[in-house]
Amino acid sequence: MAKPVTLRAGYRHIDLDNVISTNSIAYEHFENGDPGKLWITAIQQSGGKGSRGRNWVSVPGNLYASLLLISKLKPDRIANLSFIASLALHDALKNYLPEDSITLKWPNDVLINGKKISGILLENHPCQNGKSGVIIGIGVNCNSHPTDTTHTATDLKELGKNVAPLELFQHLAANINKYLEIWDEGNNFGTIRQLWLDKAQGVGEKIFVKMPKQEVSGIFERIDEQGLLILKTTDNNHQRISTADIFFSNSNQKSA
Ligand code: BTN
Repeated sequence: MAKPVTLRAGYRHIDLDNVISTNSIAYEHFENGDPGKLWITAIQQSGGKGSRGRNWVSVPGNLYASLLLISKLKPDRIANLSFIASLALHDALKNYLPEDSITLKWPNDVLINGKKISGILLENHPCQNGKSGVIIGIGVNCNSHPTDTTHTATDLKELGKNVAPLELFQHLAANINKYLEIWDEGNNFGTIRQLWLDKAQGVGEKIFVKMPKQEVSGIFERIDEQGLLILKTTDNNHQRISTADIFFSNSNQKSA
């Protein structure tokens, strides 16, 4: 039997069997007045949500977790939480895999030897009282991965590691708390940004950027103070990118 999960004081955890989406369950708790610091995990999801309206294949054996936080921060600060979640995942995975095999891909993917092992979906639900329900949804491929994805995926089992989803969750939750403390509600995003950049892939290199209404190539110059990607385009302009899929010139992407 799995060991009970220990969480930081003030945090709660509900572990469920089969749900549509752990993000949707977290949202229901928010709508019912939950005070936040609530983790929802599930064994499987029938309607797992991915980024940009995609679905997230959610069969048993992988980790599906969502953290509900209640925040008074502005949306640009809340967006910082993508970096916190990916740093926390990086450190959780470090318990099982060589550190130099783990890199971070803007905005919030974690790659192992260039292959995607996880997904992060950040949802922000502002309320009239100035507070937001912020949901950080995290999926990690522990036991299997889909093969029909844009970016080649992997899983811990394929990498020779048998890791129970809730064991990984324990490391993830502890590391989220660590990075939330460093972040200090955005007052210290500079430190988070630098820690993220230290592990990032593709900075200074040519990338292809696919946005909902535009596709552009250029040099991934840096991440700005808000976490936006600064792209130096071929006409020497600088474009600030807030949401996009990025592709490295030399990577495991299947198609751009
Ligand atoms: C991505 O497309 O990369 C983001 C995927 C996020 C998946 C996780 S699994 C737990 C949580 N519940 C969901 O429905 N989605 C997120």
